[in-house]
Amino acid sequence: MVKKNACVFISGFGSNLKSLIFNSRNVNFPINIKLVVSNNPKAPGLLYAKKYSIPFLIINTKRRDYENIILKEMKKFKITIICLAGYMKILSKKFIINNKYIKIINIHPSLLPKFKGLNTFERIIQNNEKKTGCTVHFVNEKLDSGKIIIRKEFFIDKKFDNITRIKDKTQKLEYKAFSEALIKMYRYN
Ligand code: GRF
Repeated sequence: MVKKNACVFISGFGSNLKSLIFNSRNVNFPINIKLVVSNNPKAPGLLYAKKYSIPFLIINTKRRDYENIILKEMKKFKITIICLAGYMKILSKKFIINNKYIKIINIHPSLLPKFKGLNTFERIIQNNEKKTGCTVHFVNEKLDSGKIIIRKEFFIDKKFDNITRIKDKTQKLEYKAFSEALIKMYRYN
């Protein structure tokens, strides 16, 4: 299998990045992580890039040309897929439309199309949902609205599940969902 060169975008803890790094060590896993991009210089997730010697780019999103800088760096590594893993900036329409040859996927902590956007867990509880989970989807010009690749769900325990527990359960499912989504995307390659 010829692995795809991937770039992972993060802003925070990077636990999804960590899981992708581990899975990508498997020869049968479809991607190699060649670059990590963070808009947050203090993102704890950057430690994984350092620890596993993956080149990383810390980008100041206040610069008008910041997406061009990212693109330039991605070209160096011949990136063909971007995994948004807790990246808290919204990519510009221009970035998405002009880079059709690069696949962009995102992980979201709800069963899309339900609960797009931020503060998902709070809204899930307020809405008295019976079940929740996570979704991996392609990124298009509309927030959390691209074609769904995979969803994973669990039932909410009304007695015991609070925001922390729901977040924890969701994140554990995210690690599986992200990897399974990639395997599904490239299964015929
Ligand atoms: C994940 O829960 C993901 O759903 C959301 O941001 C979180 C990132 O967590 N988009 P981590 O940085 O991968 O630990």
